Amino acid sequence: MEIGWMHNPRQRQVLVFFVLLSMYGASAELGPYSVVEETERGSFVANVGKDLGLGLTEMSTRGARIISQGNKEHLQLKVQTGDLLINDKLDREKLCGPSEPCILHFQVLMEKPLEIFQAELRVQDINDHSPVFTEREMILKIPENSPIGIAFPLSNALDLDVGSNNVQNYKISPNSHFRVLTRNRSDGRKYPELVLDKELDREEEPEISLTLTALDGGSPPRYGTAQVRIEVVDSNDNAPEFEQSLYKVHIPEDSPVGSLVVTVSASDVDSGVYGKISYTFFQPSEDISKTLEVNAMTGEIRLRKKVDFETVLSYEVDIKATDGGGLSGKCTLLLQVVDVNDNPPEVTVSALTTPIPENSPDIVVAVFSVSDPDSGDNGKTISSIQDDLPFLLKPSGKNFYTLVAQKTLDREERDEYNITITVTDMGTPRLNTEHNITVLVSDVNDNAPAFTQTSYTLSVRENNSPALHIGTVRATDRDAGANAQVTYSLLPPLDAHVPLASLVSINPDNGHLFALRSLDYEALRAFEFRVGAADRGSPALSSQALVRVLVADDNDNAPFVLYPLQNASAPCTELVPRAAEAGYLVTKVVAVDGDSGQNAWLSYQLLKATEPGLFGVWAHNGEVRTARLLSERDAAKHRLVVLVKDNGEPPLSASVTLHVLLVDGFSQPYLPAPEAEAADAAPAAPLTVYLVVALASVSSLFLFSVLVFVAVRLCRRGGAASVGRCSVPEGPFPGHLVDVSGTGTLSQSYQYEVCLTGGSGSNEFKFLKPILPNLPPQCPGKEIEENRTFYNSFGFNIQ
Ligand SMILES: *[C@@H]1O[C@H](CO)[C@@H](O)[C@H](O)[C@H]1NC(C)=O
Ligand SMILES: *[C@@H]1O[C@H](CO)[C@@H](O)[C@H](O)[C@H]1NC(C)=O
Ligand SMILES: *[C@@H]1O[C@H](CO)[C@@H](O)[C@H](O)[C@H]1NC(C)=O
Ligand SMILES: *[C@@H]1O[C@H](CO)[C@@H](O)[C@H](O)[C@H]1NC(C)=O
Repeated sequence: MEIGWMHNPRQRQVLVFFVLLSMYGASAELGPYSVVEETERGSFVANVGKDLGLGLTEMSTRGARIISQGNKEHLQLKVQTGDLLINDKLDREKLCGPSEPCILHFQVLMEKPLEIFQAELRVQDINDHSPVFTEREMILKIPENSPIGIAFPLSNALDLDVGSNNVQNYKISPNSHFRVLTRNRSDGRKYPELVLDKELDREEEPEISLTLTALDGGSPPRYGTAQVRIEVVDSNDNAPEFEQSLYKVHIPEDSPVGSLVVTVSASDVDSGVYGKISYTFFQPSEDISKTLEVNAMTGEIRLRKKVDFETVLSYEVDIKATDGGGLSGKCTLLLQVVDVNDNPPEVTVSALTTPIPENSPDIVVAVFSVSDPDSGDNGKTISSIQDDLPFLLKPSGKNFYTLVAQKTLDREERDEYNITITVTDMGTPRLNTEHNITVLVSDVNDNAPAFTQTSYTLSVRENNSPALHIGTVRATDRDAGANAQVTYSLLPPLDAHVPLASLVSINPDNGHLFALRSLDYEALRAFEFRVGAADRGSPALSSQALVRVLVADDNDNAPFVLYPLQNASAPCTELVPRAAEAGYLVTKVVAVDGDSGQNAWLSYQLLKATEPGLFGVWAHNGEVRTARLLSERDAAKHRLVVLVKDNGEPPLSASVTLHVLLVDGFSQPYLPAPEAEAADAAPAAPLTVYLVVALASVSSLFLFSVLVFVAVRLCRRGGAASVGRCSVPEGPFPGHLVDVSGTGTLSQSYQYEVCLTGGSGSNEFKFLKPILPNLPPQCPGKEIEENRTFYNSFGFNIQ
């Protein structure tokens, strides 16, 4: 039933315009018709011809047709019958959505003559959709302890159907806490609301799962479901609780800082912050705060500083556990400190005497006390000192000791004692303390200076320069300080004759001895004196020693010829008979040497002779003998020069000239027989021997033996057992013991009276006094020049 002219586009435009005008201008003239959605195609809706009052064929003759909105061919018109049929299944939800009523507008158009009728078709809903929840699962967080009756709106379900076919009711799965209410929205839609009927307890049931069902009003109703998960949100309805209400802990006092004391633990059944516990001390004292610290998170309680049993025995403190909601619980910590032997004993010296004087008995050196703050055995102590010291520890009162000297001390033996007082406690391990004290022993002047030798012998060479240091004496004093300061002095000589003060001096500080003048061996061979050493103690102590000075010989004397005399105005002449045998003793050169030892060993030699070979000199004794038989041819007068030399270094010598006269006849004895001499002298009852001694030197023993021999013979002849007095004989002394004068520059001569004392057997021979003889010369000599004082008296024992 297409209309031909409508194929002309121009005409068609005009027509559409017209139709539109008509539509708006026209009211519904047909219907309203109604049809249920989803009705099958071809279903009868209405008979339009009848409704328009047209005859059966009129519809087709007039060219009737349907114009649908948007050219959607929902309907078809059977022009032959005028029936309106469903052209296509109608879906109300598609056509109208939620709008209600759902009305489709269309026109019935007659072409001949043109006539338009407005018509409406109402599409009726059927329950062909179920409710659907857009959220398949709803999660609801509901705090526990929420009040009963509190409502929580839930998401509604959607249903495309309208009216009673839409969602009408909600249901919830059976449970003990919630019911669901169906609520109207202002737009009429219904939504569920969850209402709390019974208190929630998270700790009992932390989560609840429910099934929400939405029901529509269809018959039968359709439904849709969704899951509702309710998480019960915790509320702080539980306070923390400690596992123990009292924690009792022992810790040793030597536990290091940071040591774990105990871990307290509380629990809280709440969750989250409400179950999160932090630990603190509850109203701790200042001491506790300084001593302990608690880890807020872990409940570990550790030492913040060392504990000391001796100071604080125990600590008590409450610990509070607080949860995030502010609820708290408490427990008590009782901390008992266990003693450890951590204190060595202490020594307190309250009195110490040092230095202590030597030689004093029962001296208290120190008073000290001992303490140990530990308890029990840890605090018991034993005190001791070294065993090898002369000191004792005496307990005196509780914990007090005195240190006393066990015997009198001798500073010279030991002047310092290091005493170690050792105090040990009985703890485990044992601790000990040492306290050192040094005790000095002070000096008392109990030692005299002591010379290093009881006697000193010094070897001073004669002819020394004055002020020569000849030796040193030394004394030491074992005392100390002034008690040991030694001063030396010369003591007054025992023999008042010795002019000590002019001979030697001593340095009082160091004991150096000095010769004050040049010593002469020949004058003074030895002397002795005493030296003293005194300390400066109070009172001072002193000692003495003997010093013997031996003067050593120097070869300072040339040999001196005693016989024959030289420089005599009438020289002696030896007479030798011409008939003398070879080896006839002509004479003997007698010489002495003032020195001693080797310096006085003399040797003789013939230096010159008028007739060489006629006389000889014996080197060791000075005897001059004929070397051969004499003859008439030998001259009568002879002159011999004999050299006498000593053995010193360098040697000194003297020479002597002998005059020999050869005479006819036989020889006579050279010296008269001693008996004859003695007989001559016999009348003199107190026999006096007059001697000339050249340098009465001990070493010139030879001379002495000669002289003494003669003298003794003379004395014995006198018959005197004891000679008390001697006198100088008158007249020339027989023999050769006559005036002597030196031939050399070094000669000196002395004259002494010599006397024999005592009886026969062992008699003493003494020089008595120097004499100045005036000798008439047989061989005239010079006057004796001087006498000298002899310091020593010499004694000889003669058999
Ligand atoms: C909601 O609407 C229904 C009918 O549409 C009515 O019967 C009911 O009373 C209404 N409920 C409320 C709470 O307004
Ligand atoms: C004593 O101790 C001091 C210092 O330690 C030391 O100088 C001294 O030699 C000691 N004395 C003795 C006699 O041990
Ligand atoms: C005490 O003296 C001893 C021995 O001299 C020494 O070994 C020790 O170290 C000293 N003690 C003290 C505390 O000075
Ligand atoms: C001996 O005489 C000489 C010369 O007359 C003289 O120089 C000398 O000193 C004398 N000697 C003695 C010891 O008298």
